[in-house]
Amino acid sequence: MTASACEYIPGLANVPAAQSSISYVDGKKGILEYRGFQIEDLAAKSTFLETTYLLIWGQLPSKQQLADFENEVRYHRRIKYRIRDMMKCFPETGHPMDALQTSAAALGLFYARRALNDPQYIREAVVRLIAKIPTMVAAFMQMRKGNDPIQPNDDLDYATNFLYMLTERIPEPLAARIFDVCLMLHAEHTINASTFSAMVTASTMTDPYAVIASAVGTLAGPLHGGANEEVIFMLQDIGSVENVRPYVENLIANKSKIMGFGHRVYKVKDPRATILQGLAERLFEQTGRDEYYDIAVELERVVEEKLGSKGIYANVDFYSGLVYRKLGIPTDLFTPIFAIARVAGWLAHWREQIGENRIFRPTQIYTGGHNHPYIPMRER
Ligand code: ACO
Repeated sequence: MTASACEYIPGLANVPAAQSSISYVDGKKGILEYRGFQIEDLAAKSTFLETTYLLIWGQLPSKQQLADFENEVRYHRRIKYRIRDMMKCFPETGHPMDALQTSAAALGLFYARRALNDPQYIREAVVRLIAKIPTMVAAFMQMRKGNDPIQPNDDLDYATNFLYMLTERIPEPLAARIFDVCLMLHAEHTINASTFSAMVTASTMTDPYAVIASAVGTLAGPLHGGANEEVIFMLQDIGSVENVRPYVENLIANKSKIMGFGHRVYKVKDPRATILQGLAERLFEQTGRDEYYDIAVELERVVEEKLGSKGIYANVDFYSGLVYRKLGIPTDLFTPIFAIARVAGWLAHWREQIGENRIFRPTQIYTGGHNHPYIPMRER
């Protein structure tokens, strides 16, 4: 369905906002592809940085291209001490997504040159954002505990280094690999709310740091990236497998949303949720079961039974939190981790958008009045 001049479509549901070759979703069959590659294949064989390259530049890199990209990202992981000083002033009780949005926007102050027609500028901006966003997330995490940030370790790969900066210890290879796969799964997903936000901002030809900052702010909401935190709060609230059914029935009776379920596009189980559940089980085999896993499995069963006929199934946010908990990641970092991954997709859309840009300027259907006489204050 397309929008005609007088048709209002709430949430712009199914209204094409772009022509894009970055990713593809078939919500009825549960298919997700990045640049034509199936997500299951990438999750099994690729890495987050290779997938990032694929998303942004449109093809799998050669061995040399990947090595160059990895090295550039490694070299740019550090953040300027003045950004760290600025972050030290953030309240430690603030949400890490707000800290990330502010820090991402601040990069624009430090890298103020704007040359959107220059491929080298685009490359540098991509490298900086992919490299520095994880460092900023980990730095805030340390600072709010009263610690100095842990400097990136050049000997460690992308995922391992992030977990190291966060937890102060080098993770097991399986844990790092699983985290890297999580990043791949969250890297891109067509034109969702945060990507649309990035594209609207990009369409004004502003700098890429403003683009990413606006997307981070949009991702933060509980109906979007913030749902992964809410899932854990919900599992804690349920407390036991026996409580699952009455809990779900109560939410449905009150017309409340069950977090981690439902999707604008998928009407079957989100393929990323299937992969994440498998990753959670692999991790539990090595490190022990998460206390909430049985509740989650029962919750999925009951929600499917009650709402499956409406096309409401587990989405990407349902199992990700259980994986992150096992990796020692605090709940309020789940959404910033989503952002670390999604920067790849946002940048891919930024690059695509500025290549054939037209500023976004939708219309509205005016529902107000006309020609009201102005009433002086004393007569109101
Ligand atoms: N629990 C219970 N009912 C639901 C849920 C849910 N999680 N999701 C949708 N429904 C119901 C709605 O109540 C509505 O029912 P009705 O037709 O009887 O009124 C119907 O399904 C359609 O729901 P909408 O909210 O209109 O669907 P929409 O496509 O606008 O929303 C959304 C999709 C926002 C993801 C929604 O499913 C939701 O709020 N889910 C919970 C939050 C969540 O998990 N968000 C993460 C999504 S994935 C991501 O952003 C990364």
